[in-house]
Amino acid sequence: MSGPRFPEAWSIESLDKSHPRRKFQSGNNDVDEWLKKSALQSQKKHLTTTKVLLGAEREIVGYYTLAFSQVDFSDLPSDLVKKLPRRQLPVGVLAWLGVDRSYQGRGVGRRLLATSLVDCHEASQTFAFIAVILDCVDEQAKRFYQQFDFQELPGYPMRLYLPFKSLEAVAKGD
Ligand SMILES: CC(C)(COP(=O)(O)OP(=O)(O)OC[C@H]1O[C@@H](n2cnc3c(N)ncnc32)[C@H](O)[C@@H]1OP(=O)(O)O)[C@@H](O)C(=O)NCCC(=O)NCCS
Repeated sequence: MSGPRFPEAWSIESLDKSHPRRKFQSGNNDVDEWLKKSALQSQKKHLTTTKVLLGAEREIVGYYTLAFSQVDFSDLPSDLVKKLPRRQLPVGVLAWLGVDRSYQGRGVGRRLLATSLVDCHEASQTFAFIAVILDCVDEQAKRFYQQFDFQELPGYPMRLYLPFKSLEAVAKGD
C-alpha cells in the first residue's frame, strides 16, 4: 500500500461544524448521511472520531471514522487468536470511509485508507488492540478493501479484519 501522500494544498483535520459536510457525495447514501447527520454528534459523545481530507478550496475530498470495540474470541479466525485469552478481545474499527465522487478513481481512497490505518497503528501504541475490523456497506466496498489485505471473518461475509501484522506493515510504509 502506498503511503498517505496528498497534494500540498490539501489537509487532514478533525471534523468540526465549519466543514462543508452537507455537500459531500460519495455515491453511497449511508456513507453520505453518516457524515451529514451523525458523525459530529457521535464525536461529541466520544463514541467515534472523524477526520476529513480537505481540498485546496477546503471542500471535503474524503473522510473516515474510527472507533474502538471488542469482538468475542469465538468470532475470530483461529490463526489470529491462537495464543490469546478466550474472552472479548479489543479491536480498532474503521467505521466509515468515503471519497467524494468528483475525486474517485485517482488513488485518493487508497491513500485515505492508508492514512486511517496509520492513525489506528498510532492509537494502538497507547490503547492496544489485536486487529482492525470493518463492516462493508456493499460488495463493491468489500472488493475495495480486499485489495489491501483485509480478510473475511468466518461466518460474517460483510465483516473484514486486518491483522495487526498487516497494520504494522502499512504504518511502516511497506
Ligand atoms: C470505495 C472508495 C472509498 C474508493 O475511493 P477511490 O478514491 O475511488 O479509490 P482509489 O482511486 O484509491 O482506488 C484504489 C483501488 O481500489 C479500486 N477501487 C476503487 N473503488 C472500488 C470499488 N468500488 N470496488 C472495487 N474496487 C475499487 C481501484 O480500481 C484501485 O485499484 P488499482 O489501484 O488496482 O487501480 C470510493 O469509491 C467511495 O467513497 N465509495 C462510496 C462509499 C464506500 O463504498 N465506502 C466504503 C465503505 S464505508
